Amino acid sequence: MVATVGCEKKTETVNVAPVVETAKQPAPVPAKPASDKTRFALFSPLPPNYDSAANAGSPDRVALGKQLYFDARLSKSQKISCNSCHDLAKFGQDGEATSPGHKGQRGGRNSPTTLNAAAHVAQFWDGRMKDVEAQAHGPVTNPGEMAMANGEAVEKVLRSVPEYVKAFAAAFPGETSPVTFDNAANAIAAFERKLVTPGRWDKFIAGDDAALTEDEKRGFDTFYEKGCFSCHNGATVGGASFQKLGAKEAYPTTDLGRFQVTKNEADRFVFKVPSLRNIAKTAPYFHDGSIATLGEAVRLMGKHQLGLALSDGEVTSIVAFLGALTGDLAADLASPPQLPKSTKTTPKADEN
Ligand code: HEC
Ligand code: HEC
Repeated sequence: MVATVGCEKKTETVNVAPVVETAKQPAPVPAKPASDKTRFALFSPLPPNYDSAANAGSPDRVALGKQLYFDARLSKSQKISCNSCHDLAKFGQDGEATSPGHKGQRGGRNSPTTLNAAAHVAQFWDGRMKDVEAQAHGPVTNPGEMAMANGEAVEKVLRSVPEYVKAFAAAFPGETSPVTFDNAANAIAAFERKLVTPGRWDKFIAGDDAALTEDEKRGFDTFYEKGCFSCHNGATVGGASFQKLGAKEAYPTTDLGRFQVTKNEADRFVFKVPSLRNIAKTAPYFHDGSIATLGEAVRLMGKHQLGLALSDGEVTSIVAFLGALTGDLAADLASPPQLPKSTKTTPKADEN
C-alpha cells in the first residue's frame, strides 16, 4: 500500500536526523524480557472452586448458603447480613476502614474480602479461625457485628421460615434435624468456597502473553525484582503464610496481631499475609484500614517489609501490575438471591 510506504519513509527520515534525536532518551532495554516465564513458578492460576470434602458444596447447599449470606434476619436488628460488610457487588468488602455492625459499632479491624478467602491458610487478619466453616459461626453471634444471642436464636428464626426448613433438608440430606446453627455456617461456607475470581493474570501465567499490557508486565517485574513475591505468592498472591508487619522496619500499630492468638513473643505484630487478588478494588488497606490508596500501601510495604525506599516510578509500576490481579465473580454467585418470606412466628427485629 503506497500510503503506508510513504509514511514509513517519512519516519525513517526523521529517525536519521541525529542531533535532534539524541536529545530524547531511548526506552531502557530491560536486562530480561518483560516477565521472564521462569518467574511464574511461584504463582499459579486459581482453581475452579475451593471445595472441601468435609463440607461438600452440592448445588442445594451452595444455594442455601448464598441466601443465608444475604439474609439480614440472621442479625438481631435484622438489618445486617454477611453481605453488609462483605458486599459481593464491591469485591466482597464495603470500602470502609472499619465496618459498622450492630448499633453502628465498629471494631478495630478492616473487613477483608470474602472473595477467594476460602483459599487462605487460615481466616481473619490474625488467622484465629482455621477455615471458612469455623469462621462463619463468629459474626452472627458477635455482639458488635450481627449480635444474635446464641445459636438457638438463629435456629428459631430459620425454623420459622418453611422454605428454609425445606432448603436445609435438601442441603443436608439424611440428617434428622438439619436446621441447625452449625449447618447454617456450613452452608454459608460452602457458598464462600465458590467465590473464585479468575482474571487476566490467570490467562497470562497460563501462557496468553497478550492478557497483560506492557505496563502491567513491567509492573510484575518490579514486584518480582523488589522481592514482594517472597510473601505474596501462590494462586492468591498471598494468603498462604503469616509474617511480621514491620519485618525490616517497625510499623506503628497497637494491634499485636497473631500474638493475641498464640501468646508467642515471636508473633507480635504478625499478620496473615493478605491475598493481592482484586487488591485494586478493596481500598482502604492494612489490618486497620488506615491506608487509603494502593500506592501508599505499596510504598509502605517497600519501606517496612523490604527496607526499600521505592521510587514513585516503581510504586506506579507495581500498582499497574496489581491492577491486573482484578478478576470476575460469576454473575450467578454475585447477584442477590430471592429470600424466603418470614411468617407470623418469625422473631421480630430488635435494634437494642
Ligand atoms: C459488621 C461487619 C461484618 C459482618 C456483618 C460480617 N463480617 Fe466478616 N469480617 C469482618 C471483619 C472486621 C473481619 C476481620 C476481623 C479480624 O480479622 O479480626 C471479618 C473477617 C471475615 C473473614 C475472614 C477473611 C480472611 O481473609 O481472613 C470471612 C471469611 C468473613 N469475615 C466472612 C463473614 C461471613 C460469612 C459473615 C456472615 C455470617 C460475616 N463475615 C459477617 C466484618 C464483618
Ligand atoms: C515480609 C513479608 C512481606 C513482604 C516482603 C511484602 N508484604 Fe505486603 N503484606 C504483608 C503483610 C503481613 C501484610 C498485612 C499488613 C497489615 O496487616 O497491616 C501485607 C499487606 C499488603 C498490602 C495490603 C493488603 C490489604 O488487603 O490491605 C498490599 C497492597 C501489599 N502488602 C503489597 C505488597 C507489595 C507491593 C510488596 C513489595 C513492595 C509487599 N507487599 C511485600 C507481608 C509482606
